[in-house]
Amino acid sequence: MAEKIEVMISEEKLMKRIDELAKEINEDYAGKELLIICILKGSVFFSCELAKRLTVPVTFDFMQVSSYGDGTSTTGSIKIIKDLDGPITGKEVLIVEDILDSGRTLCRLLSILSVSNPASLRVCTLLDKPSRREFPVDVDYNGFEIEDEFVVGFGLDYAQKYRNLPYIGIVRFEN
Ligand code: IMP
Ligand code: MG
Repeated sequence: MAEKIEVMISEEKLMKRIDELAKEINEDYAGKELLIICILKGSVFFSCELAKRLTVPVTFDFMQVSSYGDGTSTTGSIKIIKDLDGPITGKEVLIVEDILDSGRTLCRLLSILSVSNPASLRVCTLLDKPSRREFPVDVDYNGFEIEDEFVVGFGLDYAQKYRNLPYIGIVRFEN
């Protein structure tokens, strides 16, 4: 089946919104050092664009997780494919995600990371599909609320493709 990509959020709109998010984060963390946890692979593009605009001192760590994906699980289990390189205890931690869908990933990640007692633990997501939520997550910084559409680009993939698109697009399947 062929697929076509329709632009949902242009590169210009993405950059403008990331400017605003960075401004908010710079104000909120003034005088502090921030540890960004970039969730691989989808949030790489967003993390970079955001971090380029931050004026507070920033360090990075990376995690890669996947849900167990049996399709029936309601426990919110996730599998850690790549764990953090360093400790987060006492640090100002900001998890940067590409998209919040059911909330399974972030809900579970927040409970795993909070055990290490960071000084603060917040969430920044580029996109949010609130109508899909099954697991509650408090989001501190949210780029765009979107409808329940499968989107790609700016880090997000469909079968590992389209991550490099500079905009967010909707995948349309054609017969
Ligand atoms: P959640 O755990 O259900 O909130 O799902 C979050 C993860 O599902 C995201 O980090 C993405 O990797 C993936 N995902 C959810 N919706 C989309 C989408 O529309 N396009 C691409 N990936 C998605
Ligand atoms: Mg992801």
